[in-house]
Amino acid sequence: MSNTIESHLIETRVFKPSDGFAQRALIPSLDQYRELYQQSIQDPDGFWSKQATELLLWRKKWDTVLKWEAPFAQWFVGGKLNVSENCLDRHLNGPRRNKAAIIWEGEPGEVRTLTYQQLHREVCKFANVLKRNRVQKGDRIIIYMPMCPEAAIAMLACARIGAVHSVVFGGFSSEAIKDRLNDSQAKLVITADGGYRRGAIVPLKKNVDEALKDNTLVERVIVFRRANNEIAITEGRDVWWHREMEYVDPQCEPEALDSEDPLYILYTSGSTGKPKGILHTTGGYLLGVTITSKYIFDLHEDDLYWCSADIGWVTGHSYVVYGPLSNGATTFMYEGAPNWPELDRFWKLIEKYAITVFYTAPTAIRAFIRWGDSYPKGHDLSSLRLLGTVGEPINPEAWIWYHTVIGGGRCPIVDTWWQTETGGIMITPLPGAIPTKPGSATLPFFGVDAAVVDETGKEVPPNVGGKLIIRRPWPSMLRTIWGDEARYEKQYWSDFPGYYFTGDGARRDEDGYFWIVGRIDDVLNVAGHRLGTSEIESALVSHPSVAEAAVVGRPDELKGQAVVAFVTLKQGTTALPELRDQLRQHVATMIGAIARPDDVRFAEALPKTRSGKIMRRLLKEIAAGGKVTGDTTTLEDLNVLAALRGSDE
Ligand code: PRX
Repeated sequence: MSNTIESHLIETRVFKPSDGFAQRALIPSLDQYRELYQQSIQDPDGFWSKQATELLLWRKKWDTVLKWEAPFAQWFVGGKLNVSENCLDRHLNGPRRNKAAIIWEGEPGEVRTLTYQQLHREVCKFANVLKRNRVQKGDRIIIYMPMCPEAAIAMLACARIGAVHSVVFGGFSSEAIKDRLNDSQAKLVITADGGYRRGAIVPLKKNVDEALKDNTLVERVIVFRRANNEIAITEGRDVWWHREMEYVDPQCEPEALDSEDPLYILYTSGSTGKPKGILHTTGGYLLGVTITSKYIFDLHEDDLYWCSADIGWVTGHSYVVYGPLSNGATTFMYEGAPNWPELDRFWKLIEKYAITVFYTAPTAIRAFIRWGDSYPKGHDLSSLRLLGTVGEPINPEAWIWYHTVIGGGRCPIVDTWWQTETGGIMITPLPGAIPTKPGSATLPFFGVDAAVVDETGKEVPPNVGGKLIIRRPWPSMLRTIWGDEARYEKQYWSDFPGYYFTGDGARRDEDGYFWIVGRIDDVLNVAGHRLGTSEIESALVSHPSVAEAAVVGRPDELKGQAVVAFVTLKQGTTALPELRDQLRQHVATMIGAIARPDDVRFAEALPKTRSGKIMRRLLKEIAAGGKVTGDTTTLEDLNVLAALRGSDE
């Protein structure tokens, strides 16, 4: 049995950046990318030192660029800076002062614009509110907010005074808040009365109240009034945001923080049990998100940039707030759901605000495809010049749809591979320089020494699958798992000592392009062949009737694992029995008989986490016998499971 992951789905289409795009791009040619990449690998200290000087404002210059005592890294040792000063104050001395920093639309339709000057004032005031409520440098603060400017204000205010924020996604339950409160030992919570989602009000404050039962550490809850829903107030503990803001001064000096002072903890689910608190620090993280935002989104002064991620995910931290604001860009925020009040809300927003750069997730793109072309086609999307994706492998067919229907065939697509742990984008096209291939995240970003290796850590030849590792530290890397160094070491650095193991499987093609096949745990072993589930899913999605597919293994006496595919169909398509055979044949034709699903099940919807990742673990249990025993607390919609169990055969 081979130890590598076989890759059978070969995609041959190549899209070069158009001359027009390249001419205006910050990095306009493949040669220039290669030259900078070489520099970043040959002389990392020199490269990062130059970038840190050019891209950031320091209170005190560092003494040492990198101190690496594997697996613990310190970047810009001895340097002092402040993230909020970099994102705000330094833009106030020139024409950006009155430029929009944030343009926001609420789900019900209200619009707010905050210029850099206005945002700076709000952040300073709120930083003073935190101080007034006895928050000190190093204290942990939980932020549980809807997608509104105050969420960003709260984050930046923490950064201003050196408090460590931990944002909890507004779609999570009180249980999730409780876990994070306990693990981080937070003393203050920032929340809102409620937030809007698909026309309903999410009772955020109520969830916080639940989570705080039996909590003895939290002294204060600051409540922003967003939805005007009725809430309970605990006297002596809860205070209103707007009231607190009346008492404070609009000046607040940014704290000169150590480059390695913690900026935030963000919890992400591990394969087992307890969520991991990923710790990011100040200087290296800010440099990482600043440089990636600038060159990957090719930010120009007149761009209106929209990353549709929620602030509760790392994408919201790095590419809604810190990266764009550090670059002085205008970041667009939308509060609600893409299908409210109609299925065209996103396209309406792009048309209305003339958004130029749009960054979203493959799961969203597949939903758009399912809803039908008429929704985007009913809007003028000609302002768009660049598109991006993140979160999972994008199926080539979905890529082509995004390129054609949303991008009008003219916008490059940056398929960006990275993780909560990496802090910033690691493998990605640079839109004016690197030709793209649908489904590939292409080449490593500056300073990223990525490789695909076998079990022994040896690099595999082109087009052979293996494990994706990073062979040297990078500035925005996680520093540890909060309070658990042993887990940090074991989880990321023990499979290949000295190297960071991403947990993902990948292959490189003959051009050195990376094709990520997804989490190693998503790999099937069928009759001795290791197959990435995402490849079979891509083959299914390339069939004209299929909207979305999730493939899992079922224990099989003969083959080790049998391939079970859960499929949702495009609107207007009926689940005829013939279709099942057609789809099995289609996969056999696209990939090979080895990948032919043993079982195709039609479903109305697939079980997903709140961040849109398909919960294969649950599907596996259903495929194996129908019972779901594992934890379902991160499942977005429990009804989906019931329907799946009841459906079909
Ligand atoms: O498996 C990879 C997948 O998402 C994982 C990281 O998830 P998370 O920490 O939640 O961060 C998501 C946002 C950065 C990765 O290990 N992934 C992310 N981007 C891609 C991807 N898989 C393929 N292609 C991508 N562009």
